[in-house]
Amino acid sequence: MIRVRFISADGAQVRDVLARPGERLLDVAQADGQPLEGTCEGQMACSTCHVIVEAADFARLARASEEEEDMLDLAAGVTRHSRLACQIWLDEAMESLAVRMPGAVHNMQGR
Ligand code: FES
Repeated sequence: MIRVRFISADGAQVRDVLARPGERLLDVAQADGQPLEGTCEGQMACSTCHVIVEAADFARLARASEEEEDMLDLAAGVTRHSRLACQIWLDEAMESLAVRMPGAVHNMQGR
């Protein structure tokens, strides 16, 4: 099992959940009630599944595709460690993965 940590946008809430290799991060997040809409269900057409990966974990993930990078350009509150949760599949080599919810989408001007 892989320990996935969800951190709220303001850092005040931290939840650890267990997930199986092969599961998609977006599905794990939604099952836990995290505020990721995932409107396009992984078609890379919405960016509402944007998460910010903790720096150490970001370096261990497979690189984002060009399509994913293009979609992230449209997301609010993007950082150097932003990814689309619908494009991250958990694999057992990860052991753990920590991601933070982007604040701008829900709390500030949004898009
Ligand atoms: Fe739409 Fe990920 S769910 S881009």
